Amino acid sequence: MAMALADLAPEWWPLSISATVLVAFVTLYAFAYQLSSRKIDPREPPVIAPAIPLVGHVLGMALLGGRYVKNLGIRNRNLPIFTLPVPGSRIYIVAEPSLAAAVQRASKALSFTPLVPEITQRVLGLDKPTVQITRRHLDPAPGEPRGFLADIQDMVYAWLGPGEYLAELSLAAATQMEREVGEFAAALSASGGEHRTDLLAWVRHLVTASTARYLYGPQNPMAADPSLEEAFWDFDHGLGALLAGVFPAVTARRAYAGRERLAAAMARYLEEGMHEAEGSAIVRERVRIALRHGWTLRAAAREELSFLFAGIVNATTTAFWVLLHVYADAELLAKVRGEVQAVLDTQTGKGKCGLSVAALRDRCPVLVATYRECLRLGSDTYSTRLVKEEMLLAGRYFLRKGAVVQIAGGVMHADTRIWGEDAGGFDYRRFLDGGGGGKREAEGEAETGKKKNPANHHYHPAAFRAFGGGKTLCPGRHFATNEILALVALVVLRFDVKGKGGGRIEVPPKNDGVLPVHVLEPVRPVEVVISEREEGGLGRGLEVEFGM
Ligand code: HEM
Ligand SMILES: *[C@@H]1O[C@H](CO)[C@@H](O)[C@H](O)[C@H]1NC(C)=O
Repeated sequence: MAMALADLAPEWWPLSISATVLVAFVTLYAFAYQLSSRKIDPREPPVIAPAIPLVGHVLGMALLGGRYVKNLGIRNRNLPIFTLPVPGSRIYIVAEPSLAAAVQRASKALSFTPLVPEITQRVLGLDKPTVQITRRHLDPAPGEPRGFLADIQDMVYAWLGPGEYLAELSLAAATQMEREVGEFAAALSASGGEHRTDLLAWVRHLVTASTARYLYGPQNPMAADPSLEEAFWDFDHGLGALLAGVFPAVTARRAYAGRERLAAAMARYLEEGMHEAEGSAIVRERVRIALRHGWTLRAAAREELSFLFAGIVNATTTAFWVLLHVYADAELLAKVRGEVQAVLDTQTGKGKCGLSVAALRDRCPVLVATYRECLRLGSDTYSTRLVKEEMLLAGRYFLRKGAVVQIAGGVMHADTRIWGEDAGGFDYRRFLDGGGGGKREAEGEAETGKKKNPANHHYHPAAFRAFGGGKTLCPGRHFATNEILALVALVVLRFDVKGKGGGRIEVPPKNDGVLPVHVLEPVRPVEVVISEREEGGLGRGLEVEFGM
């Protein structure tokens, strides 16, 4: 090669061979860079060209996880929206609340549902005929036939919205948590009064076991085979790799194996009719809808894994962060305990204390503010939409058909202009002054009722992204709030939690180097010592009966 080049170089060529190669390379790079940074329409959002032409952004996302795009957004704070060129397409990143609200409103042109069949196929391992069914009648207009996804979404949103069923399921969840906590306390007394554990692992077990029970009854698959709990968390931790979908049986071996074990156990549970005998009403209805649309019970079992997943994973990690922050700060712990004890009814006369879930939500502002602050800090979520037809977002930004729009929750949750200079740190007081103490969740589209932070700044409701927004606003948000507040209340009433050597608890940062498919976990485990409280007569032997 070098010989050939030397022979080819004419006499008058002023550069050495290596300099020539360098110049050629730089020119080629500049050309490719130029090409990658080109707009396909003058109104397209500003383009951020990848450092490595063409594949740079994809590589960045693959290697650095959610942190890659989040950091791009934070570094380019002045851009409310920007374009990331990727091979064959574009990703538009929205980093500003009012544009996020515009994306949510443009639900005809920008929709998540066309992406669902492919995603669920990969994550759940659905068979071809079932995926065909999920592709039918996505996003039906009023009066058009409704497909499986539309039917199941309508039902879940309606049932988990404020009303009688929400109250019933919340009570069932709180009661199962009380049961799990009670069992733990009994074992604690029997084993000398102290339990050393990884806090997240401890919360995982409490939430997993109780969720499986209130959704699927006492003979749910995990109760029948406790090793399935581990299979569940293997499945969760390989979700990103399953989503990538490149030979999952090899690249996501543990997750794949865990999912298949769970799917088989859930299929057995459904085939034996256990859901009809002792499952929750919402599970029975989900299975009925699937069967009505021509699903087999085996496929429905996989769909149930996604529901179990939605019910367990985020609730676990959120409850973990709340407990961690509360126990890491003695003053905060005293405040939260004070609030919970103030709403505890010790006069029920049934040998138990009464605790109302609604009172936790409405009359424990510090507890609720802590919960919301943990969601803000812990969730770097992206709300994703496919551009179904070319459009101008907010009348200004050209979005190309077939591209993907992502609202970057991680960027907004870190925005000092929204949350104040200390946006990177934990401060529950941000959510204290909200007129109702955070009683209302971010309602996505609701643009009225702007909330305040302590510096008296208002923040846009679409700036709080933990539950998504618009059409993909989490249907389980009211329920999750009820259940998490109930769990935290039970734990602070009954237990002391100290750091490893019985000392202070350190709060590690979150691990944002993964795909943010759920509320982020800490970068390292938090070892704690749990013991029963003695003082105030509310420790040992306390029994709580939940009410609404
Ligand atoms: C703190 C806890 C929770 C958080 C932060 C959370 C967050 C979210 C988010 C951001 C989405 C939208 C995902 C997207 O944009 O594609 C979502 C969807 C969903 N969530 Fe939650 N969630 C939580 C708890 C729950 C619970 C406890 C349940 C059920 C019992 C639940 C049920 C669902 C379901 C069924 C969906 C899918 C909705 C659809 O079909 O589009 N979530 N959740
Ligand atoms: C869990 O929460 C994260 C972050 O808020 C979100 O991106 C994700 O979609 C949620 N997943 C489920 C299954 O609810």
